[in-house]
Amino acid sequence: MSRVTLSRYLIEQTRSHNTPADLRFLIEVVARACKEISHAVSKGALGGVLGSMGTENVQGEVQKKLDVISNEILLEANEWGGHLAGMASEEMDNAYQIPGQYPKGAYLLVFDPLDGSSNIDVNVSVGTIFSVLRCPDRNGESGDLGEEAFLQPGTQQVAAGYAIYGPQTMLMLTLGDGVMGFTLDREMGSFVLTHENIRVPESTAEFAINMSNQRHWEAPVQRYVSELLAGKEGPLGKNYNMRWIASMVADVHRILTRGGLFMYPRDAREPEKPGKLRLMYEANPMSMLIEQAGGAATNGTQRILDIQPESLHQRVAVFLGSKEEVERATAYHQG
Ligand code: AHG
Ligand code: MN
Ligand code: MN
Repeated sequence: MSRVTLSRYLIEQTRSHNTPADLRFLIEVVARACKEISHAVSKGALGGVLGSMGTENVQGEVQKKLDVISNEILLEANEWGGHLAGMASEEMDNAYQIPGQYPKGAYLLVFDPLDGSSNIDVNVSVGTIFSVLRCPDRNGESGDLGEEAFLQPGTQQVAAGYAIYGPQTMLMLTLGDGVMGFTLDREMGSFVLTHENIRVPESTAEFAINMSNQRHWEAPVQRYVSELLAGKEGPLGKNYNMRWIASMVADVHRILTRGGLFMYPRDAREPEKPGKLRLMYEANPMSMLIEQAGGAATNGTQRILDIQPESLHQRVAVFLGSKEEVERATAYHQG
């Protein structure tokens, strides 16, 4: 049987599902950029790419060299093709304007160029998360694209995905019709469809949370996690296993592969912020993938994809993965 590359999959989608040609082109370009990032990541110390820049991003986090390199790769790959009206990134304070000499298009690209930065220097999986939105009609207005254009709930995403740079480089993609997984064939230089119509099992006995923050959690999360830890003898009546990779891409990848629950709740360390993860760059694209695979994603009280963003770098609490456990954790927040 002939192998289905990402390009062929996208062309077939254009034919059978009316995926617009410029969306297809956009995804191809993002995938090409991810290949380049994968290459840079894999060189490690040999490429001089490890370590920090000595700068901070808008979130006040130290930028790693690879955060900045990956951001540049994505901007350069996507700015000239004519398919975008603008971009926004976790690593940039404001919306990125398409340079005047290039044509503009109908879409907005939003990304976390390198997720899991704390794992780069220790050779653990990292990734790139991306989300595609339509640019709202600007009524003929031609000035700079403002932040408002991006502030659309996750339900408006037309595509979302991530690339994971692990033992294999993979691209997981949804165009709103299920989730497909592609593995990078390095000899061929293409992403090949290896995981069709991925489904997240409804039940699970595995959860992911950074337990070191336990003392800062709110009551519903305290209760829920203590019940998970109580295992067979506790109210849930079964033993649970725990994993925490500290790269959301890697934790979500495991959940897409064998189920599980991922939690990054809001906590009392920074009470003014509703959690650590970013709604636009991390939570929305991952929630779309998880829902498209039959799982669920909430912030404890509300479906993440329904949240109306108020700012580009907005944070959000995240509970996502196997439906049964997401629903239980969410119910505990209801009292
Ligand atoms: P980033 O590297 O893009 O800043 O994201 C890191 C995120 C996410 O990938 C991960 O789940 C989480 O931060 C880990 O946080 P802790 O270090 O607090 O466990
Ligand atoms: Mn991240
Ligand atoms: Mn990042």
